[in-house]
Amino acid sequence: MHLAIKGARRKMSLTKEIQRRKTFGIISHPDAGKTTLTEKLLLFGGAIKTAGAVKSNKIDTHAKSDWMEIEKQRGISVATSVMGFEYKGNKINLLDTPGHQDFAEDTYRTLTAVDSVIMVIDCVKGVEIQTEKLMEVCRMRNTPVICFINKLDREGRDPYDLLDEVEDKLNIKVRPLSWPISMGKTFKGVYNLYNKSLNLFRPSQRKLADDIMAIEDLSDSKLEDLVGDNNANQLREDVELIEGVYPEFDKGAYLRGEIAPVFFGSAVNNFGVQEMLDTFIDIAPSPKSRHAEEREVSPEEDKFSGFVFKIHANMDPNHRNRIAFLRICSGKFERNKPYKSMRAPKPLRFSNVTSFMAQDKEIIEEAFPGDIVGLYDTGNLKIGDSLSDGESLTFRGIPSFSPEIFREVINKDAMKTKQLEKGLKQLMEEGVAQLFTFDMGSRKVIGTVGQLQFEVIQFRLKNEYNATVEFAPMNLYKACWISSNDKKQLDEFVRSKNRHIAYDKEGKLVFMAESRAWLQMVQDNYPDIEFHFTSEF
Ligand code: G4P
Repeated sequence: MHLAIKGARRKMSLTKEIQRRKTFGIISHPDAGKTTLTEKLLLFGGAIKTAGAVKSNKIDTHAKSDWMEIEKQRGISVATSVMGFEYKGNKINLLDTPGHQDFAEDTYRTLTAVDSVIMVIDCVKGVEIQTEKLMEVCRMRNTPVICFINKLDREGRDPYDLLDEVEDKLNIKVRPLSWPISMGKTFKGVYNLYNKSLNLFRPSQRKLADDIMAIEDLSDSKLEDLVGDNNANQLREDVELIEGVYPEFDKGAYLRGEIAPVFFGSAVNNFGVQEMLDTFIDIAPSPKSRHAEEREVSPEEDKFSGFVFKIHANMDPNHRNRIAFLRICSGKFERNKPYKSMRAPKPLRFSNVTSFMAQDKEIIEEAFPGDIVGLYDTGNLKIGDSLSDGESLTFRGIPSFSPEIFREVINKDAMKTKQLEKGLKQLMEEGVAQLFTFDMGSRKVIGTVGQLQFEVIQFRLKNEYNATVEFAPMNLYKACWISSNDKKQLDEFVRSKNRHIAYDKEGKLVFMAESRAWLQMVQDNYPDIEFHFTSEF
C-alpha cells in the first residue's frame, strides 16, 4: 500500500512537471529580430537583468575568413544554445537556432527537439527564403507555429498582404490574434483580438511592461481619445473584417500545426512581446508522445528516455570531451544513473550533467521531459543516439538532408592519415557536415549546405587533429538515398551505376546525381527504385 502511494505520488509530480514545460525554438531569416526577441523573452523570465546581455549568435558574412571570430561565435553559441527560465509557473526552454544559412542542418536538427516554434517575420521584408526552408522542416513534423510580425515601428507592408504572403509562401493557414493600429511613424499600438484589450505603443528599449487596457466594446468613444478618430474607425473596420473572414481561433488546429496564430509587435521596443508570451504559455503544447521506431513513447512513462540532437566539441583542443545535448522524452533523468545507449556495449553513466539556465550553466541532479541537458562525453555519443532506462528504443526524426555543395577530401599529409580519419569521424558525429565514401572507403566526399563548413572543417582538422587537407571541387547536384522493394533491381542498379554510388555514415546506399536532368532521366529509367532526398524514409 505504502509503495502504491509512493508510486502514485511520483506519477503526479512527473505529470505536473511535464505540464508546466514549454520547449520551443525561434526561427527567422537573419536580421528579422530573433536575437532581440530572445533577449526580451529572457527579460520577462528574469533570466537576464539588462538588455544587451544576449550576444547575437549569428556568424555574419564578414566573419567568413576570420577564424578567431568563428571560434568565438562557437563559444557564444554553446552558451546560448538552450536558455531555460521560469515564467508564471511555467518552465520555459528556449532552444536557439543558428541564423546563418550555412548552419541550416544544425537548425533542422534542433527543430526535432522542440515542441513548438515562434517564427519572426520582418514586416518590411515579409517572408524570406530562410523562413520558408525552416517552415518546411516544421511542416514535416506538424510542429505548432506562432507567428510574430516584427518591426511595426517601421513603415512595413500592409498587414493583410503580409498574412496572405505567410499563407501562400509558408503553406499554413493564419489567424491574427492581434491587429496593428497604423504602422511606422504613426504606429499607435495593437489591439489584442484574443483577450480584447488595447496595447498602446510607447517606444522604449528599456521598458519592461506593456501598457495594456481592456476594451470590452470597440464602439466605446474612449478609443477615439486614445488613438484618434481615423485610427479608431479603421480599427473597428479591420476587426469586423477579420472576425468575419477568419474562423474563431481553434487551439486544436494550432496544436496540429494547421493554423498559425499571428501577433504584431516590435521586439526592440519590447512591444507586443509580453502579450505574445502570455498567449504562448496559454496555448503552446507541453511535451507530447514521440515516435520511436519500436513504439510510441509517452512523456508520462516512469522510465527515462531521450535522444541526442546536437554535439558540441569543447573549445579547449587539449581536452577532447564534448557536450552532447540530450532532449528528454519520458520519465525522469537522473545524474549518475546507468542508461542504455543503443550503440554502446555497456550502460553509460553521466556524472557531469549541466542545465542551461540562461547565464550560468549549473550541474543538475535530475531533469524532466521537455528539458535539455548537456552531457559531457568523451566520444561515446553521436547525433541521433537514443538513451533509455534499459529498453531498446530508437527515436526517429533526425534526418539528414541532401547537401548542396560537394568536395572530395584530399589528404596532404600521408603520415597523418590516422589523425585525419579520427578527425573526420568526430566532426561528422558532431554533424558539421556529411561524409560519403566511394570505392570501399578510399575516396571520401564531404557534402554541406554552405561554403563556410569547408573552412571550418579544414581549420578544425588542422587545429584539433593535426591533419592537413585540401578539398577538390566536385560537380554534383544531389545525394539521394535509394531503396527498392525489388532487391534484384536494386543490386542491378548499384552495379550499373557503380561510379555514382556512395555510402553515408550509416552505410546506407546513396546515389550521387550530377545534374537535375540526369537524375530525372535515371528516375524515369528505374521506376522501381525509390530516390529519397532525406536519409529517413
Ligand atoms: P536576428 O537575430 O534575427 O538576426 O536579428 P536581430 O535580433 O539581431 O535584429 C536585427 C536588427 O533588427 C538589429 O539591428 C535590431 O536592433 C533590429 N530590430 C529588432 N527588432 C526591431 C524592431 O522591432 N524594430 C526595429 N526598427 N528594429 C528592430 P542592428 O542595427 O543590426 O543591430 P543593433 O546595432 O541595433 O543591435
